[in-house]
Amino acid sequence: MKPYLVLGLETSCDETAASVVANGRQVLSDVIASQFDLHGIYGGVVPELASRRHVECVLPVIDQALREAGVKLSDIDAVAVSYGPGLAGALLVGVSAAKALAFSLNKPLVSVHHIEAHIAANYIAYPDLKPPFIALVASGGHSHIIAVESATLHRVIGRTRDDAAGEAFDKVARVLGLGYPGGPAIDKLASTGNPEAFRFPRVNFSEAPYDFSFSGLKTAVISQVNQYKQKNVDLDSVAADICASFQRAVIDVLVSKSVKAAIDGSYATLCLAGGVAANALLRSELEKYGSEAGLRVLIPSVLLCTDNAAMVACMGYEMIKAGFVDGLDLNAYPGLVVGMRT
Ligand code: KG4
Ligand code: ZN
Repeated sequence: MKPYLVLGLETSCDETAASVVANGRQVLSDVIASQFDLHGIYGGVVPELASRRHVECVLPVIDQALREAGVKLSDIDAVAVSYGPGLAGALLVGVSAAKALAFSLNKPLVSVHHIEAHIAANYIAYPDLKPPFIALVASGGHSHIIAVESATLHRVIGRTRDDAAGEAFDKVARVLGLGYPGGPAIDKLASTGNPEAFRFPRVNFSEAPYDFSFSGLKTAVISQVNQYKQKNVDLDSVAADICASFQRAVIDVLVSKSVKAAIDGSYATLCLAGGVAANALLRSELEKYGSEAGLRVLIPSVLLCTDNAAMVACMGYEMIKAGFVDGLDLNAYPGLVVGMRT
């Protein structure tokens, strides 16, 4: 039987991506045009520049995804697109392209929640995975602990009250002059530093044990760096220890709270998702503490954890199976929250 082919599109932030996925699990192509070169000099994503680059890249990226998958546009059975959360102008490029394609092909259009798509990356990496399970989602804009009750039913049980984990990585990297995006640079430098050199704060809320807060930690690190700058200390001599101690503090809370959430809720499986999941310490610590607690710990490849369109196509397939299809009046929702359908 001919496989069901979903074309996924992802333009929520600074990656233009397109992918063809067969039956929601088999990735036939996964094309990602990253914009790091464009935003690096500004130390963060410039929304207007991101939108313009998406406009330039979206059609060539779709063409390449079809070519690499060895399929024609007319072979596509449905078009899935990230419609939020993200940057408004950036999201609109993907949504507009998806609407035009679905209309011209006369095939279903399905809107996909970007965070739910990150979680769906786990279905690609572990095709036997079935809900219920707990997902720790840590990205540039979000830090959530989510109970996945069915493929299309997501319940937030913990969230950051201020900065996202990736945002804290990016801001600390910026003050240390490590460039953008900060996560990979801190990850690398931290491997040569002493994680016990500084005792940075870990925040807990007694009434909300699965919530995070990273802004106090970020401020503590930045004021430590500023003290060194005032005293003319060579930052190169302390940067590795600062990175290692900061990273340790972030990973400690992400791991302990997500393992606790799984155990408290009697979930057997804990999945990792989002760009911060590329972090080497997060991957090893989650595996260690989750397994020790008797959980099945699932950690997709780094390529599947950072923004990509295969995860969007996979989540789109699950949405279509559950009966969700959109009209051509679909809009982008920059502030979309988890568990909400518009
Ligand atoms: O999920 P993602 O690709 O985009 C968003 O939806 O936000 O996540 C990007 C975030 C950035 O903040 C980046 O610094 C962080 O993930 N990141 C990392 C690592 N690689 C990427 N953070 C820590 N360690 C890494 N190795
Ligand atoms: Zn993302």
